[in-house]
Amino acid sequence: MDRLYLRKPAEGVKRPDMSQILDFMRADLKHLQNIASRFGKVGSITKLEPHNLHRILYDTVEYFRNRMPHLGSRIDIHLISKIDGIEVLMDLELIKWTLENLIKNCVDAMTGKGGNIIVTATHKEPFVYVHIRDEGKGIPRNQWKKIFDPGVTTKKRGWGLGLSLAKRIIEEYHEGKIRVLESALGEGTTIEIKLRTNHPKKGKA
Ligand SMILES: Nc1ncnc2c1ncn2[C@@H]1O[C@H](COP(=O)(O)OP(=O)(O)OP(=O)(O)O)[C@@H](O)[C@H]1O
Ligand SMILES: [Mg+2]
Repeated sequence: MDRLYLRKPAEGVKRPDMSQILDFMRADLKHLQNIASRFGKVGSITKLEPHNLHRILYDTVEYFRNRMPHLGSRIDIHLISKIDGIEVLMDLELIKWTLENLIKNCVDAMTGKGGNIIVTATHKEPFVYVHIRDEGKGIPRNQWKKIFDPGVTTKKRGWGLGLSLAKRIIEEYHEGKIRVLESALGEGTTIEIKLRTNHPKKGKA
């Protein structure tokens, strides 16, 4: 998407200066290194550590915001988080990878249509809930479970792997839950992730 910036900008579109382009390139290179490190981890033993999920959501949303197509049908991304400061047990790189894949699916579902992606994060001890909502094409009710199976795709160039890996990461590695919370054809979809907070273990009540 950054390539857009290197071409002649459309009439009335402000071209970012060279230092800004270099900053984006540097960030993308770092990003690719992180992805390589994440893939090394799938299948190996992961270590769950407490992280500020709010910060990770913020950075992920910011990353996408800077790379959304702004010509043609416009896609906006927003974060509504009520979990700042709450620590969540996670493997950082795998959770980032999962969030990026879910948001990428939202972008794909809104291509040619445009609209909003809204990431919401709430907290109810001992869990946090992340909702990723889009205004895309929606998913038929009888596919809500199936889309998490490997190889299920409706995309020309899709592998059908994103959600099956996301499910494995959330449910096997983090003992959390991921599901389609709601979806309506032509209106949009909400995916829910539920993860455990780093609540200090208490004696049996
Ligand atoms: N937010 C969404 N809105 C509409 N459909 C979705 C959404 N997320 C997933 N889907 C449907 O579920 C299918 C499976 O998604 P998944 O991420 O596993 O694979 P993919 O995106 O097709 O390919 P890959 O992620 O491997 O590149 C998609 O092809 C699409 O039909
Ligand atoms: Mg996908």
